[in-house]
Amino acid sequence: MDVFASTDGQESDGHEQVVFCQDKQSGLKAIIAIYSTALGPALGGTRFYPYASEAEALHDVLELSRGMAYKNALAGLDLGGGKAVIWGDPDRIKTEPLLRAYGRFVESLNGRYYTACDVGTYVADMDVIARETRFVTGRSVEHGGAGDSSVLTAWGVFQGMRAAAEHVWDSPTLAGRRVGVAGLGKVGRHLVAHLIDDGASVVATDVNERALAWVRQTYPQVDLVSDATALVTSDIDVYAPCALGGALDDTTVPALRARVVVGAANNQLAHPGIEKLLADRGVLYAPDYVVNAGGVIQVADEIEGFNFDRAKLRATKIYDTTRDILRLADAEGVPPAVAADRLAERRMAEVGRLRTIHLR
Ligand SMILES: NC(=O)c1ccc[n+]([C@@H]2O[C@H](COP(=O)([O-])OP(=O)(O)OC[C@H]3O[C@@H](n4cnc5c(N)ncnc54)[C@H](O)[C@@H]3O)[C@@H](O)[C@H]2O)c1
Repeated sequence: MDVFASTDGQESDGHEQVVFCQDKQSGLKAIIAIYSTALGPALGGTRFYPYASEAEALHDVLELSRGMAYKNALAGLDLGGGKAVIWGDPDRIKTEPLLRAYGRFVESLNGRYYTACDVGTYVADMDVIARETRFVTGRSVEHGGAGDSSVLTAWGVFQGMRAAAEHVWDSPTLAGRRVGVAGLGKVGRHLVAHLIDDGASVVATDVNERALAWVRQTYPQVDLVSDATALVTSDIDVYAPCALGGALDDTTVPALRARVVVGAANNQLAHPGIEKLLADRGVLYAPDYVVNAGGVIQVADEIEGFNFDRAKLRATKIYDTTRDILRLADAEGVPPAVAADRLAERRMAEVGRLRTIHLR
């Protein structure tokens, strides 16, 4: 893995800084990767995960930090992209000393990197990390934090879906459309509420019985199907993957009946090339990292002192960003995923360049 080149073999500036952190006594082994600070301090969560090897942990943190730079750029934030991984099983090794040791390493970067929650880390962990560093978001409401980020993630996904509906059906509403939601977790549930309010009919699936019980109880009008395969092959206009990554692969895409795919899940495309397969089938795919940026918008707002209305206003702009990307994709004859990358790179270059104007 070449840290100084791009992570995908394509032309790119590579990462700015990668820091390996170790505290033997607490068992901490962490890697903090800063892809870009062109737009401001790098923001991205800490993933706590039992990677099979150090190489695997490094690969993940390099990919994830690069993704955050693109996500934050398109979210209109004055923040660059970074990410961290803690290598180990959180259920076995997560302790106060370990989290605080990690917090001291974050502090040592002096604000070049802000951390937040990710897989394996929670709001309560951020409160512990914050005892050692100022550069942490995603804290509890009691500590001035934004709380559950799924609220604005779902709102942003809904805005992205409205923009996609306008692009395909000339009207920014899901009223009268049938939307298939895979995954009724924190984000999926809020999304179902927005869709019902907008007048859509919803069909959904989840592997968790409690999630299904919630929807039966709260929205009896939602149809339920056995699994994601049944969902993608049913008569839906929009498919919203809100469970795990890799929802769009060589099996699902050919079977998909929806015209539009907009969902919260990260890394929906199972491998490069799927975006072309979708375009060839006439399926409009709104890139996941564009429409699911409401969560990072919510936690980023903490840096200014959290204000829900301000954060919601910013997440509402995901509608405009998605619309611009879909138009650019049409104008340049490329899939929306490629147009989104181009727009993010343009903002990082054009706004990042302004720092060369000397102030004093
Ligand atoms: N929470 C956020 O703020 C946020 C922000 C950006 C992206 N995301 C992404 O959105 C997705 C959902 O996040 P969440 O916070 O709602 O997670 P969650 O864990 O609360 O919910 C996920 C749901 O998906 C269900 N599920 C798992 N496998 C499934 C399968 N094969 N078929 C159907 N359902 C399945 C689970 O039972 C669960 O109910 C994740 O991919 C996450 O990375 C979340």
